[in-house]
Amino acid sequence: MFEKEVEKLKEEIKQAFEKVKDLKELQELKVKFLGKKGQITGLLKRLKELSIEEKRRFGKELNVLKDKVEELLKAKEKELIFKAEDRDEGLDLTLPGRRPGIGGLHPLSQVIDELCEAFTRLGFEVVTGPEIETEYYNFTALNIPEWHPARDMQATFYLENGSILRTHTSPIQIRTMLQRTPPLRIVAPGKVYRCDADVRHSPMFHQIEGLMVDKEVSFSDLKGVLTYFAKEIFGPKTRVRFRPSYFPFTEPSVEMDIGCVICNGKGCRVCSHTGWLEILGAGMVHPEVFRAVNYDTSIWQGFAFGLGIERIAMIKYGIDDIRLFFDNHLYFLQSFR
Ligand code: PHE
Repeated sequence: MFEKEVEKLKEEIKQAFEKVKDLKELQELKVKFLGKKGQITGLLKRLKELSIEEKRRFGKELNVLKDKVEELLKAKEKELIFKAEDRDEGLDLTLPGRRPGIGGLHPLSQVIDELCEAFTRLGFEVVTGPEIETEYYNFTALNIPEWHPARDMQATFYLENGSILRTHTSPIQIRTMLQRTPPLRIVAPGKVYRCDADVRHSPMFHQIEGLMVDKEVSFSDLKGVLTYFAKEIFGPKTRVRFRPSYFPFTEPSVEMDIGCVICNGKGCRVCSHTGWLEILGAGMVHPEVFRAVNYDTSIWQGFAFGLGIERIAMIKYGIDDIRLFFDNHLYFLQSFR
């Protein structure tokens, strides 16, 4: 009698676990077989009706069966959870979604793109040049002879073969003018190198160079183009001012300031209480530069400008340490997505 019942229960358990479809049904099986009023529990309770010998035999058998059911429950649970995830069922829909890890452009790349787009709208074409330069293109052709103190102003990295790392993007002016005939309008973004490092200086940084050459290009054109650029990048209310300056390759030369975007010109720590931020150097192309590329100075005139990308980005985003651009901390980079 008892034996038959045990055999019947074994068969029932086997079939039940084969058929079980979801976690809810599995929970029901647990109650059905192992619960307080469950079938195995029921048989265990009835052991006391049996003889000592049978008690021993069926007691052991039922305990093995109990262990087996527990094992089946665990295995089935794993299997069902796995399946449920597969079918998008049984998931906790109140959980927040998993955000896909989307990349983004580096803030400096974003600023370079923005600058190139602004100048492209004015008919400027984007060109590039090599980062390893000769002293001739980087200095001499730009009217900076060997004895000129400007060579020391831009602490230069010299390579073993006598080449240098370009200290500014201005050699691209020379390369472009040698390759092309005027008129031309170019901007040239890229990396430049100077032996200098602190919170405001990095040995590698970025500049964008601009050059326009035509038959009638005046200082007013320079002012117009650069004022447009400032308003495009820093907003339509941005004020600009031009101060006389000096570069060997432009004459006259200027530096352009914008009204401090932090204090609105009232004076603060960032603008050293002047209300103005210096953002670029520019000027009319020096006749010596035109001579170096064989452009006839009685026909052609032009202006050039150069600006530091990091400085623009720091002002635009209120960043006070240039090294943040190169540390590549994800939290910093992700804030520009
Ligand atoms: N090359 C200059 C610099 O790095 C900037 C500049 C470019 C000035 C073109 C005038 C004209 O400081």
